[in-house]
Order: sequence, then structure tokens, then C-alpha cells
Amino acid sequence: MDSIVVTGNGPLQGEIPIAGAKNACLALMPATLLTDAPLTLTNAPRLSDIRTMSTLLESLGAEVASLQDGQVLALSSHALDSQRADYDIVRKMRASILVLGPLLARYGQAEVSLPGGCAIGARPVDLHLRALEAMGAELDLRDGYVHARAPGGLKGAVFEFPLVSVGATENALMAATLARGTTVLKNAAREPEIVDLAHCLRRMGARIEGEGTSTLTIEGVDALGGATHPVVADRIELGTFMLAPAIAGGSVECLGGRLDLVQSFAEKLMATGVEVTQTERGLRVTRRGDRVRATDVVTAPFPGFPTDLQAQFMALMCTADGTAVLEERIFENRFMHAPELTRMGARIEVHGGTATVHGVERLRGAPVMATDLRASVSLILAGLAAEGETVLSRVYHLDRGYERVEEKLRGCGARVERVKG
Ligand code: EPZ
Repeated sequence: MDSIVVTGNGPLQGEIPIAGAKNACLALMPATLLTDAPLTLTNAPRLSDIRTMSTLLESLGAEVASLQDGQVLALSSHALDSQRADYDIVRKMRASILVLGPLLARYGQAEVSLPGGCAIGARPVDLHLRALEAMGAELDLRDGYVHARAPGGLKGAVFEFPLVSVGATENALMAATLARGTTVLKNAAREPEIVDLAHCLRRMGARIEGEGTSTLTIEGVDALGGATHPVVADRIELGTFMLAPAIAGGSVECLGGRLDLVQSFAEKLMATGVEVTQTERGLRVTRRGDRVRATDVVTAPFPGFPTDLQAQFMALMCTADGTAVLEERIFENRFMHAPELTRMGARIEVHGGTATVHGVERLRGAPVMATDLRASVSLILAGLAAEGETVLSRVYHLDRGYERVEEKLRGCGARVERVKG
């Protein structure tokens, strides 16, 4: 298995291109199931999760061509021959559940394996199911699968999510585009990935209003057509690389970065004393002083501070001046990086959903282990500020969501190597 070796070597200088968003692309790809016509996604990220989604769609009979070195995905579902998403693929990636809504809407039936728990929490899919039920789906949970039917087709409905869910909003939104009548989704997620999906669906002929607010109104249409759509920039990759100069010092321009994608995160970063400025080409982040100020964070659905940047922000807080309290409100078990950071000399206490980080002057390199995607990249970031070598194993977690991370950081002067194993 590959590992990544990071050797802390001082301030960074340079630029890092930001790829298309993994989590937007994973929702956009299943939209192909809603139409016979071709769907082309440009600015797609080249990641193992995207390949897993391609494999899943192909297992249903869709065609997925990866063009221009994977940056363009040409999808077609004109000859679909199965509506069953197998456990073998779904267990690898929870986002697989996003085929349920589109399959049900277009074919009136679907069988999708239940994903099960994962490293960061139990993550049930009850809200996906309840929203579809509200639209008239008949659901039967047996043999670890959701057996879903909508004999006369889905019907528009008013549904209020009891809590904000990105995936359930995406599933319901896609399903509603082909439902008969009007669907109103209340307390919907407002993440940029939802907005991007709504824009793509609208290009395909869907009638949607309210994206980016907590009420989505969808007027069902008889059929959707093809479209070409550029995937929005990855705000989590952006936030992650914004933290690199914050942790190591120096100045980095994240190309393609937009402040509106990371507003609440950028505000916290600025509160630590780091400079963030929008340039013509992206976002420039500069750390001039020696240590940043400890700053508290509470994760929340968009536009709040993203849970997907909590681990990376913790890496920054490890060497901050003072004590920071980080509250994780989205996932119940998302502090697996804390014991690994502790192995590098960090002082962190975790009680339930709260981590208290007492900043130390310096971290020391150590062998560490990735437990999930964002945890792994937080350890690489910590390695940039550590004395000596940090060796990260289980790199496959990282490859699910970060494209060429070692090359991107090396481009700014960091010493980061992948060791094939
Ligand atoms: C999406 O997951 C992202 N994944 C996650 O990214 C991200 O952490 C999360 O949203 C929150 O922002 C993709 O977009 C592919 P949720 P999702 O449904 O949709 C509970 C990463 O590192 N819930 O918004 O699965 C759930 O347990 C990842 O890229 C239910 O109770 O997240 C959680 O506590 C990991 N029932 C909360 O809601 C449900 O039916 C929010 O989850 C659904 C969710």
C-alpha cells in the first residue's frame, strides 16, 4: 500500500489549481439516469470515488466515457438494463444511494443496497426514504436492500426535512424533476453542490426554483433532455489548500477559488490572523506572523462552517497560540484524527462532540494512519508544520477525494512524496 511522506520545511510560496468538486460531481453523475439524452460534465475531478460512481452507473447499463484525461465525463443512460445497485459497490461509497431517486422517478422501480455505517458516524438514509415516500414511493426494506416502487409514477408533494441533509435533498430534488405536479422541499440543504445540481438539472429542462435557499420548488416535467455542465469548484479542496500556508507560513494563491464558496471558513481563518484576499484568479492566503491565534469553531450545514474542514482546521489549531474549542455538530464520530495528531505532539482532549485543542509551539513528525478522507489530509497538513518526517499510511482514503495532493503541495515548495508500496 502507498504511503505519503511529509517533511516540514518552512513557508510555502506558489499557486494551487482547485479541481471540480467531488461531492457535486457525485450528485451530478446519477442525473444521467433521468434522461435518454447524453449528459456531459466538464471540470470533473479525477478521483477514485468518481471511478466508483462510474462503475455503479455502468453496472446499471449506463455508458460512461472518461475524456480529456478524466476531466470530461460523457454519460448516457439510453440503454439502461438494470435498476439494481449492488451491495458490493454501494458499501464502498455511500453516495451510491443517490441513484435511488433518479431510478425510481424514471423507471418506477429501483433496488438499492443500504450503505451501512461508516467511520465518521451511523449515517442513516431514513430522510432519503421519507422524502421519496412522501412522493408516493412504496418502500420495502429487506435483505439489506431498499426495494422501491412507484407504480403510477412519483407524485409532487410537500415535504419538510426534519434535519438538513445534503444527500437526501439531492435525491429528492432529482426525483421531483420527473414527478407529476409540484414538489416543495422545505428545510432543504443549501450547499453549493445542491445549487450546482439544480443548475445542471435546469439545463436538462427541469423546472426548479429556490436553489441556495432552504425551500426548493420543483414543477415536474414529462422528460428531461441532455446538457453540458461544468462542475463547480471544490470548496473543501479549496479550504484544505488555504490551510497549507496558514499552517506552514508563506503565501499561496488557490486558483479558481471563490470566497462565496467558503465564506464562514474564510472568516474563521482570518480570525486566526491569516490574510485571505479574492484575486482575479482565485483566493490568496498569506500568513505573515509566526503563530496563528486559537479560534473556536462549530460545524453546521452551509452557510455554516463545514464539517468537511473540521479535521484540517484542527491541524492548524494544534500549533496556534492559545486554546481552541472545536464542536462537531454534523457527525457523531468525526474526531478520529485527534489521536493521530496527538502522536505528533498535539495536545487535544475529546469529550463527545467537542475537542479542546491546546496549541503547542511545534509538532513532531511521526508515523500516522488515515481513518477517513478529511482526517488523512489533516495529517498531511500537520506534517507541513512538524519537525522531521510524517509518514501517512492508508493513503487510499486520500485518493478518494484529493487529486494529486502531493504534486499540488510540491508546486509550492513543500516536501511531500508518495512512496509506492
Ligand atoms: C454529504 O454527505 C457529503 N458527501 C459529506 O462529505 C459531508 O460531510 C456531508 O454531506 C455534510 O456536509 C457527499 O456529498 C457525497 P448529510 P451526506 O445527509 O449527504 C444525518 C466528505 O468528506 N442523516 O447532509 O451523507 C447524518 O447522519 C464527506 O467528502 C440522517 O440522520 O450528509 C448526518 O448526521 C463525508 N438521515 C447529518 O444528517 C439521513 O437520511 C447530515 O448528513 C441522512 C442524513
